[in-house]
Amino acid sequence: MIGILGAGSLGRLWGASLPAGSAGYLARPGQPLRDNLSYRFRPFNGPESTVRTPFLRAIDEPELILVTTKAGDTLDAIAGIVDRLPESTPILLFQNGLGSQQAVAGQWPERPILAASTTEGANRPQPDLLVHAGTGDTWVGPMTEPARPCLQGAVALLQASGLAIHPEQNILRRLWQKLIINAGINPYTAILDCPNGGILNAPLYQDTIEDLCQELSVLMEAAGQDRESPAALRQKIEGVALSTAGNTSSMRADVLQGRRTEIDFINGYLMKLGNDLGIETPVNQMLTERVQQLSAH
Ligand SMILES: NC(=O)c1ccc[n+]([C@@H]2O[C@H](COP(=O)([O-])OP(=O)(O)OC[C@H]3O[C@@H](n4cnc5c(N)ncnc54)[C@H](OP(=O)(O)O)[C@@H]3O)[C@@H](O)[C@H]2O)c1
Repeated sequence: MIGILGAGSLGRLWGASLPAGSAGYLARPGQPLRDNLSYRFRPFNGPESTVRTPFLRAIDEPELILVTTKAGDTLDAIAGIVDRLPESTPILLFQNGLGSQQAVAGQWPERPILAASTTEGANRPQPDLLVHAGTGDTWVGPMTEPARPCLQGAVALLQASGLAIHPEQNILRRLWQKLIINAGINPYTAILDCPNGGILNAPLYQDTIEDLCQELSVLMEAAGQDRESPAALRQKIEGVALSTAGNTSSMRADVLQGRRTEIDFINGYLMKLGNDLGIETPVNQMLTERVQQLSAH
């Protein structure tokens, strides 16, 4: 059985995609125990159906835990359930950005902690409706040494979902690549309140993107990643902004719905990294502060 911690959009996508009977949700400590969670599932292709996924009981021993909370909730969410898990149970983190993965790995270095980078897209336009809005790929890799021998087994368990899952020994590299794209698109869409493609002609974007890419390029290299030129990073950011021009980013959606954003784990992470390494990051700082002002932090 696979345990899912965080029954939001991504957690429900896993609940709906894994074979019936192979996954269950982990309740928060103190949460009244329910038998199951029932919701409508609209797949990327095909007809809508109703999904009923059980909650795991205290005696159940899941063989893998998927953590699908927001980055800012992840450490507390895991702390709430970790004592009931054997030390050998792999824990797979699905958070966007960076910072929460290292915090979890640093807190439990003796446990098999894995991280995923996924381009699947899921959202909940209504509380009881889960929409699989976009199909993509999911890469899974180790964050701690004890996770290395667990990688293939975790990937095989997830492949039963029919989603595209791949092992990735260098998961930090994948996470950095996604971080760069998110850092160059998400805060602008939230500040400008526009879809991804709408940022490209905005003065705020045009006036700051060159300096932002310069910061990103220096930070990547200082963090031990392969150096990429500011121009190459800008090209990648703009390629994604164009290919997803009509999409609303998760950061803009969070602001519109009055929810806390993940800015602290995207441009905020880069700003803190710069502070630690003595690298100036005025554009990341400006974007972080402006997004923080838009939502409760
Ligand atoms: N959705 C996607 O398509 C997608 C794609 C790629 C990556 N991601 C990443 O995946 C993560 C989750 O995203 P999401 O869109 O699924 O967010 P979400 O819809 O907000 O889901 C997060 C869920 O975690 C629950 N939660 C918070 N604290 C908890 C705790 N202590 N114990 C148990 N559950 C807890 C929340 O419950 P409450 O609402 O009751 O607080 C919520 O149901 C984010 O880091 C996101 O960036 C998402």
